[in-house]
Amino acid sequence: MDTERSVSRHYEHGSLESAILSALTAAGKDTGKLTHTDLAPIDEFHIGGRQATMDLGAQIDLPRGARLLDIGSGIGGPSRYFAAERGWRIDGIDLTAEYVRVAQQLSQLTGLGDAVSYREASATALPFADATFDGAYMLHVGMNIPDKKAVFAEVRRVLRPVGVFAIYDAMRESDGAFSYPVPWWAGPETNFIDTASAYRRLLGEAGFSIDKERNRRDFALESFRQRQRMAQAQGAAPQPGLQIVMGPTAPQKIANMMGLLERGVISPTEIISSAA
Ligand SMILES: C[S@@+](CC[C@H](N)C(=O)[O-])C[C@H]1O[C@@H](n2cnc3c(N)ncnc32)[C@H](O)[C@@H]1O
Repeated sequence: MDTERSVSRHYEHGSLESAILSALTAAGKDTGKLTHTDLAPIDEFHIGGRQATMDLGAQIDLPRGARLLDIGSGIGGPSRYFAAERGWRIDGIDLTAEYVRVAQQLSQLTGLGDAVSYREASATALPFADATFDGAYMLHVGMNIPDKKAVFAEVRRVLRPVGVFAIYDAMRESDGAFSYPVPWWAGPETNFIDTASAYRRLLGEAGFSIDKERNRRDFALESFRQRQRMAQAQGAAPQPGLQIVMGPTAPQKIANMMGLLERGVISPTEIISSAA
């Protein structure tokens, strides 16, 4: 099976929209009156959740009405947040057909259907004309992509001159064995993690200049400790969260990922660059 099919099979759930809506109903939410904030514990599929999206977005200086590309948009948490709170118009692309459908459905349900749109596509072949976007961002996607050089060249192509490109990916921090599964890998066949220095080199080769870089390991560890404290406080009635998206192996995926973070093998890292 080729890599992209293995990646989308890893993420495919089968009945994700109904699983999310049933969990919200069981938690007492009126699914006819959902806001992007109600969905945030479930639809921000990266380390640090909504806070990490806000922190990345704070470094993207674009006005309301700007057009941005979300690469690997998942079920749409970051795009709905940016559309609602920053007034940006967002196009998301993702490999996983079910995620594209769920992203559209949740955006309709939260009244954001006109501000965001999603398509099934690969980050290595973007279905947009040259110089379409003012900015682009990618959260926890590069770890699934062997040919980042192709992605960065495509992003450069669809960005207007001086367009911003913000990345927040898990990157390799030191040598060390991987344990599987984690939230974004079922096994080694979809593990294409790279170091921050490899990202910087490939971005430079694609015509980007690096503006900022920030290692977010301490933030990530604190964010998990906070979640553990909240889960303990919720006891036997946990609130709906990312476990719905990750499925029955969620506890194992999270434990393996925590181990990699604690051992310093991976670190979530931001890199902000501009199209030179
Ligand atoms: C961990 S999820 C992150 C989703 C979203 N960015 C978020 O933070 O909520 C990774 C996403 O990347 C997508 N993905 C992986 N490789 C891709 C590729 N080559 N092209 C487009 N999407 C890809 C997956 O389908 C999945 O939705």
